[in-house]
Amino acid sequence: MKIEPLRIGDLVARLPIIQGGMGVGVSLSGLASAVARAGGIGLISTAFPGYDEPDFRTNLLESNIRALKKHIKKARENANGGVIGINAMVAISNYEDYVKAAVEEGIDLVVSGAGLPRNLPELVEGSNTKIAPIISSAKGVRVILKLWDRNYNKTADLVVVEGPKAGGHLGFKKDEVFSSFETFDDEIPKILEEIKIYEEKYNKKIPLVVAGGVFTGEDIAKYLKMGASGVQMATRFVATEECDAHENFKKAYLKTNGDDITLVKSPVGMPGRALRNDFVKRTEEGNVKVDKCYRCILPCNPATTPYCISDALIRAVEGDVETGLVFCGANAGRVEKIVPVKELMDELEQELLSIPE
Ligand SMILES: Cc1cc2nc3c(=O)[nH]c(=O)nc-3n(C[C@H](O)[C@H](O)[C@H](O)COP(=O)(O)O)c2cc1C
Repeated sequence: MKIEPLRIGDLVARLPIIQGGMGVGVSLSGLASAVARAGGIGLISTAFPGYDEPDFRTNLLESNIRALKKHIKKARENANGGVIGINAMVAISNYEDYVKAAVEEGIDLVVSGAGLPRNLPELVEGSNTKIAPIISSAKGVRVILKLWDRNYNKTADLVVVEGPKAGGHLGFKKDEVFSSFETFDDEIPKILEEIKIYEEKYNKKIPLVVAGGVFTGEDIAKYLKMGASGVQMATRFVATEECDAHENFKKAYLKTNGDDITLVKSPVGMPGRALRNDFVKRTEEGNVKVDKCYRCILPCNPATTPYCISDALIRAVEGDVETGLVFCGANAGRVEKIVPVKELMDELEQELLSIPE
């Protein structure tokens, strides 16, 4: 099928593919710039980009802001003019500071989920930065667009809808994740209806991008044919040479056949999808203790949390894939090799082109 570029206001990506933000440290400047260079949109995660800064543990906010700005600059330098955004999790402490720092750096786009990004419009006020909520249902889209319209007289520049096959934190209750595999696609037309109200009111196109379990050009085509303007993909981008995670993290995706992918309880208060490794088994038995609290996740109660998610994600991204938490999408078992981003993007483009209109 013919490939239309993904247009978000004046931003244009040749291919309608956004690389989803992946924290901690999985999508930084290396991956984001490679995706942007290849014609997609690359997102840097604001979930502790400074995890490897020397003062990370003593100076949480400052080290992370410094690292975020550094990664945005570096991604820009290497993006060859492509589109670079951030993924900002609402549930993280100092969410506003990360978004404002990225806007100061002239970031193109802020994609924001893991909670309702209620005040996102005011955080980008006066800039040309585009904003997008990540939502999991038509109801969620209705709520956030109504809120932005009422409180700010603004609407989204893009909507990302993330389904139950995604990696990391999911916007579904644990017992609804698997039943939603069957029903999620039915939400797409309903979401498009909700978006249409604000497209008409604000007289602008609000592209919809679908995330979660998109693996091939055929999957992309399915959502484009349903009326979406693009997709957001993450799991496949982990298995690339440019992904910012340790080699062991990528190899853990090659190793799984999918049978050990599970849902974990997360201190963020949402279920998360991850590999069921030694660490996850120990958390299920209640055998993990929290040594030090960074107060990094707003909904986390250090007295009752089953584990420290920051420490667990940092161990994983540094290559300790048995004692760390390895987030992955439901399709990680289908990943077979680690390739350059350009090769993956070319493959997806060719598959998409070969699909009849
Ligand atoms: C390792 C990993 C980490 C992720 N971290 C985040 C995150 O920090 N914030 C977020 O909004 N989504 C996160 N996600 C979700 C992705 O951005 C993406 O929307 C989703 O995984 C898409 O589904 P797919 O992996 O099947 O392509 C993560 C996904 C993975 C696999």
